[in-house]
Amino acid sequence: MRKIILAGNWKMHKNQAESLDFVQAFKPEISNTDETREIVFCVPFTSLTIMSKNLHGSKIRLGAQNIHWADEGAYTGEISGSMLTEIGVNYVVVGHSERRQYFGETDKTVNLRLKAAQKYGIIPILCVGETKAQRDAEETESIIINQLQQDLVDVDQSSLVIAYEPIWAIGSGDTCESKEANRVIGVIRQQLDNKNVTIQYGGSVKPNNIDEIMAQPEIDGVLVGGASLDPSNFARIVNYQ
Ligand code: PGA
Repeated sequence: MRKIILAGNWKMHKNQAESLDFVQAFKPEISNTDETREIVFCVPFTSLTIMSKNLHGSKIRLGAQNIHWADEGAYTGEISGSMLTEIGVNYVVVGHSERRQYFGETDKTVNLRLKAAQKYGIIPILCVGETKAQRDAEETESIIINQLQQDLVDVDQSSLVIAYEPIWAIGSGDTCESKEANRVIGVIRQQLDNKNVTIQYGGSVKPNNIDEIMAQPEIDGVLVGGASLDPSNFARIVNYQ
């Protein structure tokens, strides 16, 4: 059985007070949500502690947005596995296209971060996806297969989530057509040794397209940016029909 995981990626949004306001408004909205759906918030480091305290005892899990591969050391601005597990972090986003595009993340460092997360018992959410130019050049499949081959070297596929995030669909309102997302996710699954890895779709997921996305047989959840910042929007997403 593949686990359904609905994750919000807050990116660089919400200070602690705003995070607390969100949780208080969101919690009542999921009182009837199916227990088999895992809900995850990947929040800024500064909100992890307050979120951990306020999510304790709820069915919501906590995620971070980065992890360094060293246990500790002279890596200004980075964060270690033990710093995250001490707070109760369960998931971490690795290889998001914004990290790859703006912060020099490579498949090599993505691979190191994935293995570091697993070493600390944190489940990494590995993001892969193609640019618009690569899609137009019909390179989507080769790009993604190449990313997976490099990113997953010596990675344990029993403790892994993958998010297919076409870069042109992120924050653009231009969602990938759900059948096409389903097809690419099928291609990703073919590359895996463990066929039960949860594979999410991400890129302009909204309340008005979630039902169609989750109706696709290969899609096991979503990674949501913009629409995860509003409690009622994200509640509609986790309560998809
Ligand atoms: P978006 O972001 O939902 O705002 O498109 C998705 C993501 O970057 O994970």
